[in-house]
Amino acid sequence: MTVGVVGGGQLGRMLALAGYPLGIDFLFLDPSRDAPAGKVAPVVHGAFTDPHLLKWLTRECEVLTFDWENISVEALREHASRRGARICPPLPALAAAQDRVCEKQLFERLGIPTTRWRAVGSPSQLARALAEVGLPGVLKTRRLGYDGKGQLRVRTREEAHRAFETLGDVPLIYEQWVPFDCEVSIIGARSRRGETVVYPLNGNVHADGILRLTRAPFGPPRWQRTAARHLTRCLEHFRYVGVLTVEFFVHKGRLIANEIAPRVHNSGHWTIEGSCTSQFENHLRAILGLPLGCTRALGHSAMINLIGELAPRERLLACEGLHLHDYGKQPRPGRKVGHCTLVEDSAAKRDRLARRLLATLAPGVRFPRAA
Ligand SMILES: Nc1ncnc2c1ncn2[C@@H]1O[C@H](COP(=O)(O)OP(=O)(O)O)[C@@H](O)[C@H]1O
Ligand SMILES: [Mg+2]
Repeated sequence: MTVGVVGGGQLGRMLALAGYPLGIDFLFLDPSRDAPAGKVAPVVHGAFTDPHLLKWLTRECEVLTFDWENISVEALREHASRRGARICPPLPALAAAQDRVCEKQLFERLGIPTTRWRAVGSPSQLARALAEVGLPGVLKTRRLGYDGKGQLRVRTREEAHRAFETLGDVPLIYEQWVPFDCEVSIIGARSRRGETVVYPLNGNVHADGILRLTRAPFGPPRWQRTAARHLTRCLEHFRYVGVLTVEFFVHKGRLIANEIAPRVHNSGHWTIEGSCTSQFENHLRAILGLPLGCTRALGHSAMINLIGELAPRERLLACEGLHLHDYGKQPRPGRKVGHCTLVEDSAAKRDRLARRLLATLAPGVRFPRAA
């Protein structure tokens, strides 16, 4: 059984590592010579849209999936219709996730609360959006944003118009700023037979738009129930196959959907050691038509991202119980180069250890109160 993966980043690498014990092989397509997946699986180097390479991947593999959200839906759609390739998750879900306006419309259609927003394509539309949505807010590019890139927070009209100039001549969205109490995300999987499973809720801390810390299970049962209901609605809407993530702000006890990710997600990395079946394994099970695995948490987990460069391995491994994941990437400011996970018997012990670790690994990031 071989799975073809378009994109060979760390998510693809962790998919491969989860698949090998099940006897699954992998072929990756990625333009980069040092794609992280290349250290653990064969990679064919070329453009994500190269029709010959996609054709070859389809011939060699049972199913194609992707680990990167900003690949061309058109190229994959054309390929699927011409070659009859099976691509999971479904392309309409990928298309919705690629455009923040489509994402917001999806939430509204499914009755999932989201931020107030307006599409912005000109200074006069920006003026109208500011009047209708109010300040403060955030101006974002509709497409190609990730890790907080392509978005600027604005407090005044002047700032908004400056942000409009800075972001350039691309379609934008203006969103109301949500003074959230915390951020959460929920991850689930749906199989080809329509079976669904949902993981415990993740509590996430971002700094400069990049995820720094996730704790799970997180929050009261009511949040879990609400988030799972919203996630399931999205899964059913797309007749989804694979792993899907929904991110929320929590404001005064209310969950407000922010965005979806049609793939395994950084906030689910704790599931490798912290749950019965990792998100990576469940994605593979789902797209290959295998029974889905149990999503129960095995303890209280914390995942901390290693950003920019890896801390000395000796220092990290000296922390009792720490699980290290080095993606084999070259250091670069703001780049996710690895993560580490702790799984403890109690939330209090997990928080004590994670707080200390975060203080050494990311001194500027505040450790939040327990939820
Ligand atoms: N409308 C908003 N209100 C408050 N915070 C926001 C808003 N939009 C984005 N943020 C902050 O920026 C982070 C990244 O934004 P997001 O829309 O998730 O983009 P990305 O695709 O880069 O993950 C969020 O997790 C949140 O911390
Ligand atoms: Mg996000």
